[in-house]
Amino acid sequence: MNHHEHPAPGPTPRPSEFWDGFYREREQVWSGKPNAALVREISMLAPGTAIDLGCGEGADAIWLASRGWRVTGVDVSAVALGRAAAQAARAGVAERVTWLHRDLAAWEPDQQYSLVAALFLHSPVELPREHILLAATRAVAPGGLLLVVGHGAFPPWSRHPAPEGGLPSAQELAASLGLRPAEWAVETGNTEGRVATGPEGQTAVMTDTVLRARRRA
Ligand SMILES: C[S@@+](CC[C@H](N)C(=O)[O-])C[C@H]1O[C@@H](n2cnc3c(N)ncnc32)[C@H](O)[C@@H]1O
Repeated sequence: MNHHEHPAPGPTPRPSEFWDGFYREREQVWSGKPNAALVREISMLAPGTAIDLGCGEGADAIWLASRGWRVTGVDVSAVALGRAAAQAARAGVAERVTWLHRDLAAWEPDQQYSLVAALFLHSPVELPREHILLAATRAVAPGGLLLVVGHGAFPPWSRHPAPEGGLPSAQELAASLGLRPAEWAVETGNTEGRVATGPEGQTAVMTDTVLRARRRA
């Protein structure tokens, strides 16, 4: 994946403007394939309800819907959601997915789900990620799963302003979310290094962080 485009110099654009512009630059940005960690974590589960926070062009939500899940995909970009809806229709799962155009900085899920996923919820413009992930924990139904996959580090070609001290490890993220052992069974880890390709065709071995937390029933 190439999650690393950059805002033009000048005043920082609003998230919706930045991401709509980002998606408009290319007909399709992401691979259209489901996230490998999602596939690994979910394949054994019986379908339920899911919400995908920052769903982009919808590949993960559509994959879940194709496995029988009832899915809500949320994104700040109307352009991405338009593509997601068109792809869901092509895949024959439109009736199982609801697309919500929301800024997660200002909106949080108003019901609970058996799966709450946030996959590469990173942004070069304003994104209160920890605030959003705290809201995500509240949206997990008893017995349900929180799955957060993110970059361990931005790739060398990225000009993302890395937060001071770097991106959080999965363990640091779990600690910041305050998931109490009495209520949550938490597993954290890193994926095997995968080779990612940058905008100029350059490659780098990337590690992703994975936080998987099951809310005790
Ligand atoms: C790096 S992309 C990841 C997309 C997708 N989850 C994936 O893994 O391919 C980040 C996504 O988060 C969305 N996003 C960024 N800020 C957001 C916000 N404040 N509220 C909702 N979505 C946001 C972007 O529009 C973009 O689709």
